[in-house]
Amino acid sequence: MTTPRPETVAKLTPVLTKRWLSPDAWRIGTYEQLDGYAALRKALKAHPDDLIQLIKDSGLRGRGGAGFPTGLKWGFIPQGDGKPHYLVVNADEGEPGTCKDLPLMTHDPHALVEGVIIASYAIRANRAYIYIRGEAVHAARRLRNAVQEAYDKGYLGRNILRTGYDLELVVHSGAGAYICGEETALLDSLEGFRGQPRLRPPFPATHGLYASPTVVNNVGTIASVPPIVLGGADWWKSMGTEKSSGPMIYSLSGRIVNPGQYECSMGVTLRELLELAGGMQPGHNLRFWTPGGSSTPLLAAEHLDVPLDFEGVAAAGSILGTTATQIFSDQDCPVYATYRWLEFYHHESCGKCTPCREGNYWMVRVYRRILAGQGTHEDLDTLLDTCDNILGRSFCGLGDGATSSVTSSLKYFKQDYLDYIEGRTAPKLSEKTLVGA
Ligand code: NAI
Ligand code: SF4
Repeated sequence: MTTPRPETVAKLTPVLTKRWLSPDAWRIGTYEQLDGYAALRKALKAHPDDLIQLIKDSGLRGRGGAGFPTGLKWGFIPQGDGKPHYLVVNADEGEPGTCKDLPLMTHDPHALVEGVIIASYAIRANRAYIYIRGEAVHAARRLRNAVQEAYDKGYLGRNILRTGYDLELVVHSGAGAYICGEETALLDSLEGFRGQPRLRPPFPATHGLYASPTVVNNVGTIASVPPIVLGGADWWKSMGTEKSSGPMIYSLSGRIVNPGQYECSMGVTLRELLELAGGMQPGHNLRFWTPGGSSTPLLAAEHLDVPLDFEGVAAAGSILGTTATQIFSDQDCPVYATYRWLEFYHHESCGKCTPCREGNYWMVRVYRRILAGQGTHEDLDTLLDTCDNILGRSFCGLGDGATSSVTSSLKYFKQDYLDYIEGRTAPKLSEKTLVGA
């Protein structure tokens, strides 16, 4: 008897993605025809504090990975302090597997520009920056074009819509370093320094760009602001779960029929997302997956029904992160996948602190040894011990994130490691990769 397939309850909830398929949605004329800049007109009639309260009431949480409450962050900006305030949008999307902000900026750049203006007005900033990943040339071009269109229409610059509010918006391209997605490294880079994380606290809310109060928010967070202003907090909270409100863009990649971006209410499960995405590719069975990019602990096939919201994923022992679900099958090797991610972290480590700089260097070498068929049982203890000395002892989240796939793959797939060590799996790397190790 076959087990009946559970009914799919998931539906797409297009809010941030609703204009993506409209022709020329990136042009201001199309955007205006599709509700564009209506939220800005409404917001500029409200008191900035009321806008902050609205965002608090909506329960919006940061879409960059950490899920920090957005309204709370805006409320940290000291008022009447005589200092300039800044809004900085983190568009340096670089987490492996993550692909939600770049399509948003390419298809619907005005959604971000409108959100920037409303958020800047709320925190009383007169200057804002969008720091975009250096490799994202096409998205940056679209964004710059949108900013110019907004200036030409009087949505940016001096005396916006004759309300007396002024805002200058600059699009700044980074130079392709993953670490510049860490908010304080991003601020250093924006100031013209080498991008390396700063000690926190103090947080950017009080000591940010040029040591002034600064809100740093992800693209998806800021693009969520116009729909909340138009639809209201209760409408936003009608999607998602109690503590993880609203829709979320899940980027699906790997062994599935239709990879891409799927916007659903938070709390959707991987089983439901897979059904929306056409299922696994023929001949492939789900074996392991990341719920939120490579910095989040791996989950296994037994986690298909975990609600993909901040609390649900945490209860399963991982992190929602950037909602980048990378799907691997029974034809993929968790040891090799972890090695490839570690190579990435080793390459992108900024070198400021010892645990991350040295730990990732050595772990890459241990993995090469195992994958070349020369590993030992002690290597597995060495890996766990090294992770112990990186996690919680690194200066920023990059070091912590690097350990996620190591510890979780050893938890769920230790046998795969033993198969290399004990000679049951053929080496994947040649001995040449060990030269210099
Ligand atoms: P965090 O939890 O330390 O901070 C989150 C935000 O809240 C920051 O803006 C921080 O300034 C603010 N904050 C926290 N406590 C505060 C306080 N007491 N006062 C004022 N502000 C406060 O997380 P972090 O290190 O900023 O980000 C880590 C996340 O980034 C990870 O979960 C990871 O998933 C994600 N990530 C995303 C990438 C991407 O490409 N989108 C790349 C790599 C990581
Ligand atoms: Fe640099 Fe890694 Fe230390 Fe972060 S954890 S400061 S990336 S060396």
